[in-house]
Amino acid sequence: MEKGNTLPFPYEFEDLKAEEKEYLEKMYKFSDYPSELSRVGPKGYVLLKSYKKDAANIYNMPLRPTDVFVASYQRSGTTWTQELVWLLSNDLDYKTAAAIPLTERYPFLDLFMFAEINHLDALFKPTDTTIDLPKIEAVFEIFGQPATRILEAMPVSTPRFIKTHLPMSLLKPSLLDTAKMVYVARDPRDVVVSYYHHSKLFMIISRFEGTFKEFWNLFYKDLCIFCPIFEHVKEAWEKRNHPNMLFLFYEDLSKDLNASISRVADFLGKKITQEESVRLYEHLSFDNFKNNKSVNFEDMREIGLLAPTESFVRKGKTGGWRDYFDEEMTQQAEQWIADNLRNTDLRYPHMNN
Ligand code: A3P
Repeated sequence: MEKGNTLPFPYEFEDLKAEEKEYLEKMYKFSDYPSELSRVGPKGYVLLKSYKKDAANIYNMPLRPTDVFVASYQRSGTTWTQELVWLLSNDLDYKTAAAIPLTERYPFLDLFMFAEINHLDALFKPTDTTIDLPKIEAVFEIFGQPATRILEAMPVSTPRFIKTHLPMSLLKPSLLDTAKMVYVARDPRDVVVSYYHHSKLFMIISRFEGTFKEFWNLFYKDLCIFCPIFEHVKEAWEKRNHPNMLFLFYEDLSKDLNASISRVADFLGKKITQEESVRLYEHLSFDNFKNNKSVNFEDMREIGLLAPTESFVRKGKTGGWRDYFDEEMTQQAEQWIADNLRNTDLRYPHMNN
């Protein structure tokens, strides 16, 4: 916790087990990233140690009835959902949506923990001509500001849209009594493929240089940030019938975006015409989204923060995992999913279980 912070935070931060660390160190040979990780609380969520700095402020964050959270395990369709929620909440104001990047429209609660400026030396060499180090430092300075402070400073008259990849147990326990949340979940096999590419895309804390199979092993052994994913999803799923919670699946958005637009509009108490719905559908469709500078993070490319072969809005497919999983991984995943769905009524709409 930040010095002088007396707000209560009920969970301990624990170091990873020695064998977990050893395994991670093998995977991240050129970075001290494994030593930056800790597990938090009874579910053992993996977070960066720097999370401690704002953990209590996040857990006790004063909320407003106009707050809307968009939450997920990362790579589950958060950005897509954010744009949908924001546009419906803001009278389909495409002009403002184009003018103000999504990152500015949505303070990102947990971003600060990735932006340890003193990591930069380890990641980038001053002689590296593909990057603009002073600009990257300036961006990290902004990323490193706790979103709780930014949110607190926002006028009460302005509805706040908040992005987070934190599980519900690390957020304010009474959150749904005051604020709304739209949570989006996705087939963990597609999440891990997307996350694998993401960990090569963003050169922020670590560059994963291993194979997909190695990354899969990290993911399903709960050694990636915000893991364990099933606990993350289950916490939100348990609240899915709360009137202030809307639980979505990426696969539903993908299969029938129109139906999802209607569900989100109903949840937010908004009415849209058929014509408006058609336009929103177009706006959110993958090809348009991929080219939409306000949401696609391409501005990070100019300063060298993105790997040349990767992009944030990547493939947008369901079931793409099949191209990555060999027979062994497929069986591991099936068992893993079955184990985690046992004793719960969580069901992914596209899985036959
Ligand atoms: P892929 O890497 O599988 O393509 P998040 O926003 O939570 O990080 O999720 C990113 C994933 O959502 C990426 O998945 C991205 O391509 C996908 N995505 C983003 N916008 C999309 C859209 N309009 N339609 C379909 N998928 C989209």
